[in-house]
Amino acid sequence: MCGIVGYIGTNEAYPVLIKGLHRLEYRGYDSAGVAIVGPDAGLNVFKAKGRVADLEAFCKSKNISGTIGIAHTRWATHGEPSNINAHPHYSQSETLALIHNGIIENYAVLKKELALNGYTFQSSTDTEVLVQLIEYIKVSNKVDICTAVQLALEQVVGAYAIAVIEKGNPDLIIAARKSSPLVVGIGDDAFFLASDATPIIEYTNQVVYLEDEEIAIIRRNKPLKVVSIGNVEKTHEIIRLEMNLSQLEKGGYPHFMLKEIFEQPRTLRDCMRGRINVELTNVVLSGIIDNKEKFLNARRILILACGTSWHAGLIGEYLLEEFCRIPVEVEYSSEFRYRNPIIYPDDIVIAISQSGETADTLAAIELAKEAGAFVYGICNVVGSSIPRNTHSGSYTHVGPEIGVASTKAFTAQALVLTLMALCIGREKKTISEERFLKLLSEINNIPDKIELILQSNDSIKTLSNIFTYAHNFIYLGRGYSYPVAMEGALKLKEISYIHAEGYPAAEMKHGPIALIDNEMPVVVIATNNGAYDKMISNIQEIKARNGRVVAIANKDDTMVKAIADYVIEIPETEECLDPLLSTIPLQLLSYHIAVNKQRDVDMPRNLAKSVTVE
Ligand code: F6R
Repeated sequence: MCGIVGYIGTNEAYPVLIKGLHRLEYRGYDSAGVAIVGPDAGLNVFKAKGRVADLEAFCKSKNISGTIGIAHTRWATHGEPSNINAHPHYSQSETLALIHNGIIENYAVLKKELALNGYTFQSSTDTEVLVQLIEYIKVSNKVDICTAVQLALEQVVGAYAIAVIEKGNPDLIIAARKSSPLVVGIGDDAFFLASDATPIIEYTNQVVYLEDEEIAIIRRNKPLKVVSIGNVEKTHEIIRLEMNLSQLEKGGYPHFMLKEIFEQPRTLRDCMRGRINVELTNVVLSGIIDNKEKFLNARRILILACGTSWHAGLIGEYLLEEFCRIPVEVEYSSEFRYRNPIIYPDDIVIAISQSGETADTLAAIELAKEAGAFVYGICNVVGSSIPRNTHSGSYTHVGPEIGVASTKAFTAQALVLTLMALCIGREKKTISEERFLKLLSEINNIPDKIELILQSNDSIKTLSNIFTYAHNFIYLGRGYSYPVAMEGALKLKEISYIHAEGYPAAEMKHGPIALIDNEMPVVVIATNNGAYDKMISNIQEIKARNGRVVAIANKDDTMVKAIADYVIEIPETEECLDPLLSTIPLQLLSYHIAVNKQRDVDMPRNLAKSVTVE
């Protein structure tokens, strides 16, 4: 949450900063700002409530020249979205400007102490307290800016990625991180700074990921220096990025979300590439094979995740229990970390996260590690915090997911979990060879089957017109389709703002059935699997109460078609692979309803892609 960009080099900073903010806008978009040290060494801060485009409009008449600057796009935590609460924040004497992603938990105590020393505050943010503290330390201890940042951070409790620049000092950016991500890009004659690598990739592919409690001293025409808060010089590894620029563009689609839905045949092929052999006889996940004994002897698997990744985790529970016969529990990271969970040293924890930065999942991982469990990450963003803080793991390899609503990451998470279950199941001999080979061969067909479903886009768009003005939706599924029902409901509510609930179909009778009347659309996943007959009964029950049924059914189905009001057809597959197909029409349905409602599909209100605060 919140995006940070910085630049120091030979070019004008403003265009680089604004472009970078656009790339990071998915991280927060309620206000934005820039701070630039101009050619006269003056420090100018410009900020505006709203999107980055509003900031650009505001800056049109302003003096934005200078070759060093920092910029921020905000997702409000402390203080409403407003011009004043937007970052960068000036220090009292307006000699420092600071941007921040994270939360300063002890800001109230620090603020009180600063107030006693004559400091006043313009905003309601925790960030302004930090910049004032740095100035106070700098002035009262007569130290340079870097030392002042170090001393200030020693007093801070919380999470931060920060960057500071100083009036009269056009040659220096100080940046630091703890629990919030920060990447430094190293160009030929420039340095870049950002919350993730997306603003950097068009200038350089050489980056350094800062570690917790590291400070980057970024100086014009001098090598990057990284020190600890205690001022010990740290070595830093320069990583070569694999990302390419076209992955960050819409590629002719009106929204990133639609592009990402349509990318799924390719992203799933990428995800299985190198993991399933061409003969379709073996699955190799190196993270599993390298730690085979741990998986074979696991007492239990705990899956920790949030939101859509948690839904993928539920699919993982069904897969791992079915094929590996290991007991699995799936928990919201936020619940897990704040209760007193039992964690055994022979537990395996699987942490799932698209961004690899979700604060609750990171904290839950720490808890599991402290208890001695082996932690395996399933993440998408290469080099993000979760892969760097887990013992082993598998990337989903779907490329940058920019639409705030997760789509291609979800199907790839489900696929990785499927491959894990098959890999472990075969090692444990809890899956028969025949079933193993049949599933591998069918997994290989999934991308083609998704291509077929995507051909229904126009008819799903037409169907969406009927439901644009619905106020509520229910999504029902059983077994492997139950997490898909919840995921379908989440997709709809987050981008269209229509209230939707995902439920296990059999639970309908225990409460939600009271909601059903002729105004209630019910999306039912009724594919041809073990629960098919039961789903037919559920549809009958909904129809008996005049509910309107949109069914996801298989191509040759006749029974569902006879009773449902609307049917979206998908190809048949193995029951455990059904989520990889049935999710696709639900993504498209949500997308088109949201577009009909003229919602900001890629940047829905109040949300951010990377939830780096608790
Ligand atoms: C929903 C969505 C969120 C995320 C959740 C976890 O479309 O994107 O629910 O799934 O915030 O994020 P990650 O997977 O990055 O940990």
